Amino acid sequence: MRIDIITCLPKLLESPFSDSILKRAQSKRLVEVHVHDLRQYAIDKHKRVDDYAYGGGAGMVLMVEPIVRCIRALQADREYDDIIYTSPDGELFTQPVANELSIKKNLLILCGHYKGVDERIREHFVTRELSIGNYVLSGGELAAAVISDAVIRLIPGVLSDETSALTDSFQDGLVAPPVYTRPAEFEGLKVPGVLLSGHEKNIEQWRFEQSVQRTQERRPGLLGDDKTN
Ligand code: ADE
Repeated sequence: MRIDIITCLPKLLESPFSDSILKRAQSKRLVEVHVHDLRQYAIDKHKRVDDYAYGGGAGMVLMVEPIVRCIRALQADREYDDIIYTSPDGELFTQPVANELSIKKNLLILCGHYKGVDERIREHFVTRELSIGNYVLSGGELAAAVISDAVIRLIPGVLSDETSALTDSFQDGLVAPPVYTRPAEFEGLKVPGVLLSGHEKNIEQWRFEQSVQRTQERRPGLLGDDKTN
């Protein structure tokens, strides 16, 4: 898979991809992540990428020309399965959406910023708009990092234990069961006996029951029709 990210704040996207699982996924050549500085596609010598909103109002709007120049330059080399725009009013990014994106070949993510992006970009170039939650971030960069992380870890071979992405919270519509590590007892607080029993079937059953109970207690919406609560 290849992910291209267009942003006017490329520095914000340096560290999320240069450590841990996302770094390893790139070194293993399972994914390529390329961050593109929108300013390099500016049409004036001041490298301007935003301008005042027509009709007035506070906040700057990302201009259409630099974005289109950047998108077209990238499209000249490959076809994108989706051109994603990160925005608080987009479709809610959930595990099923991450699963869907993880089997794509080329994704392009355009980070929203300031007051937004010229609507013509959203209407004519973007194919999917995603929000990572019902709150407003200062820009779409952190959202792009969150989306990329959730997608990349699903690519086969990225996680060392092949099954671990499948047992994540949300993959089966349930949250994950509790986990413990050594010591078996800490200041009188004991690890549940079943986990020390070595009895695989009982452990599996206990984990499932814990997942169901936790989901009922903490995220009952996941058990209903609206899977987003
Ligand atoms: N940009 C600002 N807020 C956002 C959000 N919640 N999700 C995606 N992009 C955003």
